[in-house]
Amino acid sequence: MDMAPIPHLDDIRDAFPILQRKTYLNSCSLGALSTRAEARMAGFLELWHEMGASAWYEHWLGRIEELRGRVADFWGASAAETALLPSTSVALSVIAESVPASPGRNRVVCTELDFPTLAYQWAVKPEVELVVLESHDGISVDPQQFADAVDERTLFVATSHVFFTTGFVQDLAALADIAHRAGAYALIDGYQGAGQIPVDLKSTGVDFYTAGPLKWLCGGPGLAYLYVREELIPELSPRITSWFAAKNQFAFDLEDFDYRPDARRFEMGTPALPTVHTALGGQELIDEVGMAAIRARNAHLTDLLVERAGNAGLMLNVHPDPTRRSAIVMVAHPDPAGAVAHLARAGIIVDHRPGFVRISPHFYNTEEEVERFVEVLRGFER
Ligand SMILES: Cc1ncc(COP(=O)(O)O)c(C=O)c1O
Repeated sequence: MDMAPIPHLDDIRDAFPILQRKTYLNSCSLGALSTRAEARMAGFLELWHEMGASAWYEHWLGRIEELRGRVADFWGASAAETALLPSTSVALSVIAESVPASPGRNRVVCTELDFPTLAYQWAVKPEVELVVLESHDGISVDPQQFADAVDERTLFVATSHVFFTTGFVQDLAALADIAHRAGAYALIDGYQGAGQIPVDLKSTGVDFYTAGPLKWLCGGPGLAYLYVREELIPELSPRITSWFAAKNQFAFDLEDFDYRPDARRFEMGTPALPTVHTALGGQELIDEVGMAAIRARNAHLTDLLVERAGNAGLMLNVHPDPTRRSAIVMVAHPDPAGAVAHLARAGIIVDHRPGFVRISPHFYNTEEEVERFVEVLRGFER
């Protein structure tokens, strides 16, 4: 098995203090906090003490743009196509309020494996018909199922880059193509994709993509990122808005509202500044290690986990093709909550979902940590 080394793994592990205290294998819920992110946060707090509101103009507006630029570079788009929002749910609702359904085009196609907040955006709109594709294997959805369900009545193909429960990686270019051939938009919830799978949004052709710093980008809670393909931006007029979306934000003119020409027209108010700072710290580390190395490392740790868990007689819900897997692995268990508590007593942090223990290693984890998880879980079963 390829060892998929990460350059300077020891230094990287030193930058994440939780790794010295715990066996941390839950990055799909919350990426580990780095000393880099902590230092960025400390700098933010110090400026707040030192300068108060004057830090806005001299520093903090610049940090917001620094983050926007980094995220844009990271996901292969321009800063003008990148918006900062408070959560994925808000980003999705702004899109839903930018692209209204019409009687002839009122269907949104998603899957039963998507994160619920995606479907909820249209489930609450009586004028929209939500089509939820089934997963035949409980792990994946075949692109042909999308192709069969999408037609001239479809407004959006709205689905995930990586399914949050099974780790299955969808083919974004294929989904964009299916949507566009029917005149529909391709909207991707990339929360479980960005930071574990390399993304180059321009080349995929998708129209909208959402992600955030919380999980695989190790940047903490409080922000989401939204990509909107540049050709679409001038056509869309969100029906929920804010002063950050206004062309003349600082004119404070109530009666003369016009949208900004770039993706900031989708923004919903002041971004969470503490998270702007922690997200910058996390993003710097991710960029330095590089997505190719992270993907290779995570694939290696996932393959190892699958092999060791299989040898230990544990039942896994992962796709058989390793290239379609990601580092979210579900282990079937009769008592997932009990197993997670047992693992926690041994200093191993993982999570559970109905019927499963969920483990999600990231580039900073070691082979020994993955092996330890399998051993301790097996011990609980006896
Ligand atoms: C795929 C996916 N989408 C969305 C969310 C949550 O989005 P929000 O930022 O609205 O809480 C999560 C996880 O928490 C997720 O895994």
